[in-house]
Amino acid sequence: MTARVIDGRAFASGLRARVTAEARRLKAEHGITPGVAVILVGDDPASAVYVAAKSKAVHEAGFRAFDHRYSANLSLHALSELIQSLNADSSVHGILVQMPLPPAIDQRRAVDAIDPLKDVDGLTNANFGRLMTGEYGAGRGLIACTPLGALMLVRHALANELAGKEALVIGRSNLVGKPMAQLLLAENCTVTIAHSKTRDLPTLTRRADILIAAVGRAEIVRGDWIKPGAVVIDVGMNRKTFEPGKSKLVGDVAYEEAAEVAGAITPVPGGVGPMTIACLMRNTLIAAALQAGLPQPPV
Ligand SMILES: NC(=O)c1ccc[n+]([C@@H]2O[C@H](COP(=O)([O-])OP(=O)(O)OC[C@H]3O[C@@H](n4cnc5c(N)ncnc54)[C@H](OP(=O)(O)O)[C@@H]3O)[C@@H](O)[C@H]2O)c1
Repeated sequence: MTARVIDGRAFASGLRARVTAEARRLKAEHGITPGVAVILVGDDPASAVYVAAKSKAVHEAGFRAFDHRYSANLSLHALSELIQSLNADSSVHGILVQMPLPPAIDQRRAVDAIDPLKDVDGLTNANFGRLMTGEYGAGRGLIACTPLGALMLVRHALANELAGKEALVIGRSNLVGKPMAQLLLAENCTVTIAHSKTRDLPTLTRRADILIAAVGRAEIVRGDWIKPGAVVIDVGMNRKTFEPGKSKLVGDVAYEEAAEVAGAITPVPGGVGPMTIACLMRNTLIAAALQAGLPQPPV
């Protein structure tokens, strides 16, 4: 079998086009331009690349971007004060704190300073809690961008036929694994979550109709771990050195091997990554509409 490639770039580009069109309508009919504030603390090179990609997408969609960059010695108090001022600023509809924060800053307290209505990354306890209780979507609560984007790709690959499927999520982070598992549960999948203490991971992966890898270990999932015909979504982004001085971006799945067995698979790059950014735009548009008391735009 040779897997169908799930083209995240093409899917994300369609989503961004719909978001841009709805944002134009919001501006024309209500005079609102969605605005997103991106806060980067410290000088982590990968974070700087992610923030640059997000800012570029924000500009391309005609949104307002407010960039806030600080050195790693910023205090939690100063960061919270900045977030409070952005919470109160009506031109800012979305606030994104780029993770990871420097170790001296309590990540949970920083994130929870964000007004849940402006939490376009879906990381506050308020939005995370709504996801757990199922009180999200259609005007209530914002969902974390990466798992939301990954779910859209799964739905696309399976033509929305997810109910009853066995899903395995490898990884249990608050950013990806846990919300991903919850979203699949809400789609009536039978969900298993694996992590670093899981025993005999290949036995679990071989049962999965839907396999989500969010580990951060280059090519840990091998081809013979995949159930024939499975949908494989590779969230991982890892830099792999293949000869001295030369490296490339690879996922958590050994792509060539897995593509021989899977029914559909996302590449890295070009899979989940572009969806994360497109979902950030989507969440910001929705946040802008909801803050103005308007219905959720159809994107
Ligand atoms: N494409 C995108 O837009 C995007 C966005 C976000 C993240 N990512 C990528 O996705 C990956 C995961 O990100 P994250 O933030 O969720 O990472 P994370 O917070 O480091 O979590 C990694 C998870 O993988 C588990 N794990 C580690 N080694 C394992 C092993 N050998 N077997 C099974 N599970 C193992 C860990 O288990 P424990 O809980 O037991 O430690 C943990 O739950 C990273 O490569 C990251 O760069 C991509």
